[in-house]
Amino acid sequence: MSAADPRLDRLRGIAPSILAADFGRLRSQVEETVAAGATVIHVDVMDGHFVPPITMGPLVVDALKGIDALLDVHLMVERPERHLADFAKAGADVLSVHAEATPQLQYALGLARELGALAGLAVCPGTPNDVYVENAAKVDMAVCMTVNPGWGGQSFIPTSPDKVRRIAERVAPGTAIQVDGGVDLSTIGTCAQAGATVFVAGSAVFGKDDPGQAVRDLAAAAEVAARGATAV
Ligand code: DX5
Ligand code: ZN
Repeated sequence: MSAADPRLDRLRGIAPSILAADFGRLRSQVEETVAAGATVIHVDVMDGHFVPPITMGPLVVDALKGIDALLDVHLMVERPERHLADFAKAGADVLSVHAEATPQLQYALGLARELGALAGLAVCPGTPNDVYVENAAKVDMAVCMTVNPGWGGQSFIPTSPDKVRRIAERVAPGTAIQVDGGVDLSTIGTCAQAGATVFVAGSAVFGKDDPGQAVRDLAAAAEVAARGATAV
């Protein structure tokens, strides 16, 4: 999609990750977070190869169709270009592919947009950030993994905010910057100060008794920190 895609306005704030949700009542749990202001719902797709676990496929995205939020599909799969069409058809608004998962990165990013989605480019903590320089024109959202991908509930890697800053210097203006992994009330502020604009939170939302309140608390913490970072 082009930079004028209206969905870019909603690609911000807290993105609850359904990996930590109760799948027996997935839709109602997701709706609670949307009612609390979440405009992005994060769906973690794992293939048992790129990362050890196997999680969910297009059927789960399809089950969330019609929710009043962007469906943000994080593909932790090898050769993601082979699966983009299925996820687009299921209703994905954002398709994020990993730089480490394909030798055909520009093709994959271009295909995501051709299929009508916003294109996300994700990097693992150990991957050099210059991949964003080479692909800047093809990326709507940079995904900075703040844990090594594969599982929810891991601890935030403390050097991540520095990586977010380096990524922010390399993407085109207006590109969303997502942090993913270990984001909670104690870590979200440093991410916001570093320039992150989309905050994936699994355990810190669905691991709480009141996921809606958790979204509001995280959003408030991110806003306060971002305001502090821009104040002179
Ligand atoms: C990890 C996934 C994350 C995960 C985050 O590989 O990409 O999106 O759901 O979970 P928490 O917020 O619990 O670290
Ligand atoms: Zn994710």
